[in-house]
Amino acid sequence: AAHLLGIEHLHPTEITTLLDLADTYANDNRAGIAHKDVLAGLTQVNMFFENSTRTQSSFELAGKRLGADVMNMSMATSSVKKGETLIDTALTLNAMHPDLLVVRHGSSGAVDLLAQKVNCAVLNAGDGRHEHPTQALLDALTIRRAKGRLHRLNIAICGDIAHSRVARSNILLLGKMENRIRLIAPPTLMPSGVQEFGVEVYDDMREGLKDVDVVMMLRLQKERMDGGFIPSEREYFHRFGLDAEKFAYAKEDAIVMHPGPMNRGVEIDGTIADDINHSVIQTQVEMGVAVRMAAMDLLARNLRARRAAEQQDTM
Ligand code: CP
Repeated sequence: AAHLLGIEHLHPTEITTLLDLADTYANDNRAGIAHKDVLAGLTQVNMFFENSTRTQSSFELAGKRLGADVMNMSMATSSVKKGETLIDTALTLNAMHPDLLVVRHGSSGAVDLLAQKVNCAVLNAGDGRHEHPTQALLDALTIRRAKGRLHRLNIAICGDIAHSRVARSNILLLGKMENRIRLIAPPTLMPSGVQEFGVEVYDDMREGLKDVDVVMMLRLQKERMDGGFIPSEREYFHRFGLDAEKFAYAKEDAIVMHPGPMNRGVEIDGTIADDINHSVIQTQVEMGVAVRMAAMDLLARNLRARRAAEQQDTM
């Protein structure tokens, strides 16, 4: 593929290829083995129109580990604040000939639109409520390493599903890999028509968590709510927050995941988040670097092949 815009159009074999490569990078990162030649001579630009800690820093680190020249555009101080449109910003950047463009934007579809206007490979780092493909891929790698497989697992995705691009990308990916997915949320945070994705729907944590292999908690996306979705954070934690009592309904060897940033005491109890026997939250962050290295490596191979073919055509 020319871009990584979402999980929606990926084939299970493409997902497996990317995860296999990311797995190697994860091992090499731990062993301190460098791969500076992979993106040597290429320029990677990170454009984050929404805040990020994990995604931006891991894309930057991934690019640097592979030898790219990495530039972080500071969108808070860019001309976007003076009214420049996304397309004009994209065209301006395109004129500087980047090779890899990593974009996070608050509007669903904005990254797809931008990809149509530039001549480089675009990676979606999260667009509105739509998709966050590298998050789903790093979650998949974390699950595969913890459980030894990525199929026929019982996986619960819990919390603010309605506003979550992480949930959407994970439902698509884990469904393609033939897992059994349960969504657990209050009715106000459950999108309508979600059963079309072949998932089971619950509004009771204890019922939904029974015998699951994986518990994936989601952050309450307060910035995407205009009030009225939850009675109070205290009540929400009481009914839907993951604590030891509710987690006991999952399988004994179940893992706990959270994409971050976490709201401790709102969707997850701090003790559960820090329980090294079950929580893989820090592994998710570690796998984030490896998955982003693999995604950029594969897109760069495609980009170089396309450019070489174009040069042949003009000769
Ligand atoms: N999980 C995730 O996307 O985190 P950031 O918003 O910190 O990038």
